[in-house]
Amino acid sequence: MFVKNAWYVGAWSDEIGDSGMLARTLLGEPVLFYRTADGTLAALQDRCCHRGLPLSHGRVQGDCVTCGYHGLTFNRTGACVNVPGQERIPPAAKVPSYLVRESDGMVWIWMGDASQADDALIVSHSFAGNAEWTFLKDRYLVNANYQLITDNLMDLTHVGYVHNRTIGGTPQAHSEAESKTSVTSNGVRVERWMMDSVPPPSYCAVHKFHTPRIDRWMEIDFFAPSIVRIHTGAMDTNTGAREGQRNDALLFWGFNAQTPETETTTHYFWSGARSHVPGRSIGEQRLDSLRITFAEDKEIVEAQQASLDLQPEPLVMIASDAGMMGARRRVAMMLKAEAVSWIQPVVPSKLDEVKA
Ligand code: FES
Ligand SMILES: [Fe+2]
Repeated sequence: MFVKNAWYVGAWSDEIGDSGMLARTLLGEPVLFYRTADGTLAALQDRCCHRGLPLSHGRVQGDCVTCGYHGLTFNRTGACVNVPGQERIPPAAKVPSYLVRESDGMVWIWMGDASQADDALIVSHSFAGNAEWTFLKDRYLVNANYQLITDNLMDLTHVGYVHNRTIGGTPQAHSEAESKTSVTSNGVRVERWMMDSVPPPSYCAVHKFHTPRIDRWMEIDFFAPSIVRIHTGAMDTNTGAREGQRNDALLFWGFNAQTPETETTTHYFWSGARSHVPGRSIGEQRLDSLRITFAEDKEIVEAQQASLDLQPEPLVMIASDAGMMGARRRVAMMLKAEAVSWIQPVVPSKLDEVKA
């Protein structure tokens, strides 16, 4: 079961060409993204209401999509506007349409009640395409429930164990990091500090630290139900990071959108950006290790899903689960709110009136 009244990332913008179509299963529903004649994005259920062929087998014509089987044509609202060979269009001839927005190089989709959609809830990722930042992105199809990916991101004590080849550092330093979890207006925030810690290999490869140990910080923001934004940084130890000094810091911003495909598969849109270091070209500031880093997480959560499929219970909680539990609680609240909103008021039947 998924939260419907929320913005999800459906695609990177450049996955859908100027006149192209993109078919993708989201929240268990087949979705067709396409661009209309003026380049505006539209999204319809990818299922023709005539005989069920995916509309992605058809083609875009102006603002409409024509089914590739018998030629029914649908506009961007999903209304059928032409049935070849007959003038009458059956009233039921329509397909569901979805709200879409493009922002910061991403395509966002709202698959629930359109009257509740609020653009202010779209999470910003403003450094995408910003020349001040070196930027890398991709999408992995992960064979695991989307919440297992959120769990992974909300508890970074895993970094010392899963990512010791890349962004890790020592497991002990991660486990002993000062950590504070708080509830925000639409999610959860975890702040972590790793003072006077050993710099991980990937940090040393891209940044010149002047002390053998560094101070690291991580700000992890969960925006329910599916976005995790992580702002991290590192500086020479004892040079004022805690007091807000950021000169000559290595800054890294991560953006993660885990959009359910099904209950056990997820479109994991990830991206990472690093501030430029003066005097070094973008080419020297390699972000390649990110692909390895996110593949390491993919391997872990897929193995976890397979294990939980065999035996979901029991599981034991530990202190570092606070962020993960807060995020899950928030999603559960949203699901509950949607379930309640579907309960219709009971209208007394005629029989009840007679009995009364
Ligand atoms: S299945 Fe689409 S027109 Fe027949
Ligand atoms: Fe990770």
